[in-house]
Amino acid sequence: MLARLFQLYLLAQLLDIRGQVSAARPASYAQWAADSAIARGQSTGLDSGGNPKVIYDDGEFQLGLHQLFEKTGNQKYYNHLLKASNTIVSANGSLPSSYKYERTNQVKWKTAADMFRRQLDLQPRTGQGQFWHKQVYVNQGWLDGIYMGDVFYAQYTKAFQSSNSSAWVDIEKQFKLIYDNTLQTAGSEHYLGLLYHGYDYSHTAVWASPDRGHSPEVWDRALGWYMMSLVDVLEFIPASSETYATILKILGTLAPRFRDAADSESGVWWLVMTQPGRSGNYFESSGSAMFVYSLLKGVRLGYIKDSDGTIVTTAMKAYEYMTSHWVSEKSDGTMDWLNTVEVGSLSGNGTFEYYISVNKKVNDLKGIAAFVLASLEYELLK
Ligand SMILES: *[C@@H]1O[C@H](CO)[C@@H](O)[C@H](O)[C@H]1NC(C)=O
Ligand SMILES: *[C@@H]1O[C@H](CO)[C@@H](O)[C@H](O)[C@H]1NC(C)=O
Ligand SMILES: *[C@@H]1O[C@H](CO)[C@@H](O)[C@H](O)[C@H]1NC(C)=O
Repeated sequence: MLARLFQLYLLAQLLDIRGQVSAARPASYAQWAADSAIARGQSTGLDSGGNPKVIYDDGEFQLGLHQLFEKTGNQKYYNHLLKASNTIVSANGSLPSSYKYERTNQVKWKTAADMFRRQLDLQPRTGQGQFWHKQVYVNQGWLDGIYMGDVFYAQYTKAFQSSNSSAWVDIEKQFKLIYDNTLQTAGSEHYLGLLYHGYDYSHTAVWASPDRGHSPEVWDRALGWYMMSLVDVLEFIPASSETYATILKILGTLAPRFRDAADSESGVWWLVMTQPGRSGNYFESSGSAMFVYSLLKGVRLGYIKDSDGTIVTTAMKAYEYMTSHWVSEKSDGTMDWLNTVEVGSLSGNGTFEYYISVNKKVNDLKGIAAFVLASLEYELLK
């Protein structure tokens, strides 16, 4: 369910878009990666069977398309985004695409946003108030879910209910509860000061630690989603609020720990971050790109302090490894993006063996989208 929510984060952004056509040729990795994904027909709002599907990968990619459109003025990024969004929203016959108002179909997007927002009110919660990751994952909070649900929750609140203080308090609670329940305890085995993938409030999942109910490993992409949500959500939250202060503090605590957890030679991050160098573990491209994006954006906007410059240096080194190892040029002029793990779930046993058993996929949208976002940040440094 929460996976559906993030789409509206992007739909809402459409309300203000007005574009101009230009004939810019791909002149950056951000554009090359996006152009290649568009050329392959990725992120159309349809699943492989041709049916409309709301999925957070699309939302992540559309965030990059939106920025590319703003940066380049090239209408094709806007068109691709709009086409996929129309596919989703017109899926419900009560929201016909002919429903036009002065700007972009404003009422249609608002109606859809309201529908997604209402789902949050129905989402079950743990005894502490954290949204369950999904109905089938009873009492479980996963880091990935924060990106799927709570960035939208904040954007919606800013746009339509900015004086709803209980919503702001609730948003703070979502970020804080997952942090407190998954943060590694100082001195624990494989301590990085980072966050385990998830926790079970009732401590009954097969992977739940007896003391706190957390899963056993730090998985890079789950943490990538959480880091991206921290840097993306701040722009929606009133800067004078407790919610803002809490998120800023979490970000400030975690950022140097990412710097310290990067592999000292390659500069990128391991799939299972708690088991660096262990046989079967590898450098994973989606999580690494998410960290680069989050660190560079966080420093650029002043959310993360980097007085000695080591956080930016770390992110740049990682980025350069990515372009030399995970980008592969094809004969048709597009690029492939390599080494993204397909999935990571706490539906199984949550062990190291599980995470490394999952396939790596070429051109997985979750990875390409993160690379587009990381490239946009890297290219802003120049
Ligand atoms: C479309 O959404 C509206 C609520 O916005 C709902 O009342 C209606 O049942 C939905 N129709 C279909 C076909 O799902
Ligand atoms: C304010 O937010 C809370 C928490 O999400 C929600 O229960 C409530 O309905 C919202 N108030 C209004 C007026 O929408
Ligand atoms: C956990 O699951 C993986 C496959 O997903 C399997 O290879 C491994 O043996 C399992 N470990 C335990 C302790 O059950």
